[in-house]
Amino acid sequence: MPEREPRPDICDYEGSDYRIRFWDGKGRDYEDRVERVALHRLLPKQGRRLLEIGAGFGRLTQEYDAYDQVILLDYSLSQLQYAQEQLGSGGRYLYVAADAYRLPFRAGVFDGATMIRVIHHISDVPAVLAQVRRVLVRDGIFILEHANKRNLKSILRYALKRQTWNPNDLEPVEFVELNFDFHPEYIRRSMTGAGFSLQRQLPVSLFRLDALKRSLPLDLLVGIDGLVQLSGLLYAPSIFIRAKAVGSSPDNLGHGSIFACPECGGDLVHEDESIFCPRDNQRWVIRDGIYDFKAAIEV
Ligand SMILES: C[S@@+](CC[C@H](N)C(=O)[O-])C[C@H]1O[C@@H](n2cnc3c(N)ncnc32)[C@H](O)[C@@H]1O
Repeated sequence: MPEREPRPDICDYEGSDYRIRFWDGKGRDYEDRVERVALHRLLPKQGRRLLEIGAGFGRLTQEYDAYDQVILLDYSLSQLQYAQEQLGSGGRYLYVAADAYRLPFRAGVFDGATMIRVIHHISDVPAVLAQVRRVLVRDGIFILEHANKRNLKSILRYALKRQTWNPNDLEPVEFVELNFDFHPEYIRRSMTGAGFSLQRQLPVSLFRLDALKRSLPLDLLVGIDGLVQLSGLLYAPSIFIRAKAVGSSPDNLGHGSIFACPECGGDLVHEDESIFCPRDNQRWVIRDGIYDFKAAIEV
């Protein structure tokens, strides 16, 4: 095999207790609910095949029920195993353990994609956006959530000199290793450069403050957030974007396998419980219904 270029680091959730540590009973019902409100606003009424990038344990997957098929993709096999236990195998869900920098799919096999709470782990944003664009058909819809560096809290902290980085500076800020906040304009430019046209941007989760969450009823807070989302004022900690894939792309939605070699892009051959690239002589295993593209096995 020829030597490979160095690859961007991945924030590895393998074996992580993310669901228990961050969501279950952790006082984030408000964040969870307002994200679903935003998704309802942005998702098409129906679709054929949606790619959920960084699906994690499947927290939001059932929001995508308007699509005939949903492919849950995550770098963590253990997150997908949990999702599979909850959502079931076969039917409309397919599970793929793979790296968003090297999507193991043919061009133009999806008409929808989402990426929620994931791009903040991505150091090379243009590379991942190019992958997402490649696998979408023309006019395919991409819903992206990103952490917003230009939020009210960071503006205030900067003004009070309690934060060194400038929230108005367009460059991403890495506040913890492999955790980035992005300026909305940086994301807009990156998406446009990757072949997307932005249709809508919603500021989400503005009231992510423990004191507020403790003192106001959840339904009220969610209702107010829903109104703020319509304001178009992009100063909330989280921004949801609906974008359309523009320019030309092949349309492989209705025919052939969805998979392609993550290394060379060539066709793959299914063989019992594995999938094989004849060109690279590499093989990946299907583990209890989960396609595992994390590492090829010895042939
Ligand atoms: C904060 S979790 C969000 C999970 C889910 N989208 C949600 O909102 O509940 C981030 C997820 O992104 C996945 N991830 C991070 N980098 C990735 C990459 N390069 N390729 C695929 N998945 C990645 C992690 O494994 C993790 O499950």
